[in-house]
Amino acid sequence: MTEAWRDANRANWDERVPVHLRAYNLAPLRAGKGALYPIEAAELGPVAGLRILHLQCHIGSDTLTLAQQGAEVTGLDFSEPAIAAARALAAELALPARFVVSDLYAAPQTLPEPASFDRVFTTWGTICWLPDLTGWARVIAHFLKPGGTFYMADGHPTALVFDDDNALPSGLPGYFLPYFHQGALVQDDHRDYADPEARLASTRTYQYAHPLGAIVSTLLEAGLTLEFLHEHQAVPWRMFAALIEDADGLYRWPGQPWLPLAFSLRARR
Ligand SMILES: C[S@@+](CC[C@H](N)C(=O)[O-])C[C@H]1O[C@@H](n2cnc3c(N)ncnc32)[C@H](O)[C@@H]1O
Repeated sequence: MTEAWRDANRANWDERVPVHLRAYNLAPLRAGKGALYPIEAAELGPVAGLRILHLQCHIGSDTLTLAQQGAEVTGLDFSEPAIAAARALAAELALPARFVVSDLYAAPQTLPEPASFDRVFTTWGTICWLPDLTGWARVIAHFLKPGGTFYMADGHPTALVFDDDNALPSGLPGYFLPYFHQGALVQDDHRDYADPEARLASTRTYQYAHPLGAIVSTLLEAGLTLEFLHEHQAVPWRMFAALIEDADGLYRWPGQPWLPLAFSLRARR
């Protein structure tokens, strides 16, 4: 399964793993007090005793946070270094967790357990890496038990139209990409969002803009029922230079909120 978008994105993500092992604040997790960001912590609800599949789990910090809260977790990611780091962290913290190397679209072949998870969970910077939303929604429906729920939180597609490289004289972000942009957005960028000093060598990435309506509709077409769709005036990273970090670790607009920054949804199979 070698395709240009997958190979380039995987090389880019492989290289970010050591950067994030240094830059992510893993101290609370290591102290037994891992925490999700306030948005998903409030919306996901108690997880103790639930079987959770965490898609695109990266180095496993959120997966292991869910394990600390008593969930039976499986984390899946296509980056071998990311999964190696997640397994090492699980071993260090003596947390029971299963981590699987797999492309998202190959997950039904990699994990032979259809309809066996109470929750499928994916957050912050996931679907922008996926070219095919229909295939993504099918994977989610494939793994959920009847009655199980899918939860996601991510950057709001409207906010992704703007960026700081095209900033206005006022300092607000400027127009970057059409909301309905189709096909891959191919970029060459050596930067990493977690470490301003990092200089990546695998710079080429392929990302995809997914309108909010398409995200919801593909989940409905895969047989899920939407339970909520929330738009947020906060996001857990400095999406734009103009945002202000609050005490809860979320970033918000100074003064009047200008654009929604994030969205979250829950859908039931
Ligand atoms: C921004 S990270 C997700 C962040 C994660 N929530 C965290 O806590 O750090 C995106 C992840 O998606 C993974 N990824 C990207 N494309 C993928 C694909 N096609 N299949 C599986 N994983 C993929 C990357 O390896 C990376 O770990």
